[in-house]
Amino acid sequence: MKTDKSESIFSNNRRWIELKKANEPEYFKKLALGQSPEILYIGCSDSRVAFEETIGAKPGEVFVLRNIANMVNNLDFSATSVINYAVKHLLINDIVVCGHYQCGGVRAAMLQEDLGIMNPWLRNIRDIYRIHKNELNEIENENDRYDRFVELNVIEQCVNVMKIASVQKAINSRKLAIHAWVFDVRTGELKDLKLDAKSILTSLTEIYKLV
Ligand code: CO
Repeated sequence: MKTDKSESIFSNNRRWIELKKANEPEYFKKLALGQSPEILYIGCSDSRVAFEETIGAKPGEVFVLRNIANMVNNLDFSATSVINYAVKHLLINDIVVCGHYQCGGVRAAMLQEDLGIMNPWLRNIRDIYRIHKNELNEIENENDRYDRFVELNVIEQCVNVMKIASVQKAINSRKLAIHAWVFDVRTGELKDLKLDAKSILTSLTEIYKLV
């Protein structure tokens, strides 16, 4: 699909509208009433990872934040605004940080290469490598190390989510759950890393507890 073939994009759109209306005549009227998504999805920008499609979700069901390597950076007001809006206003009860194997952003952070304006973003990913350097350096096979780095990055971004005051409050008051998942572009499978959010939150308490 190329944008210079915009004719096909718009004709696809018209066909999609017709299909939706044929299945459910009031579809767009209902969609316009508002959103009450149940999941906040924080994922990578990678075009191969179409989360809603892979879990069979429909428009209106998933609130989404995507960036390179599914990062939750303290100074990224886009990320913190999305998370706060999802937790405080949409009252979402499940936050999913979903990375994916073969992530180019994670790969770039494993290379000694000056990537200009990308450097500060990738530095946040390199910080994750530094935190888990001992475990990662013990993995001899480079592909296995790359896979594990993807997983550890997801877990650390969940930790970053839990540093936010509104998230801490919602975990305590209404059982907001944080999930660490990885999508495998090689098989289409979604893997649950089974994050132990409670014990991570306990270990964060001394330094990061706000509420
Ligand atoms: Co990626």
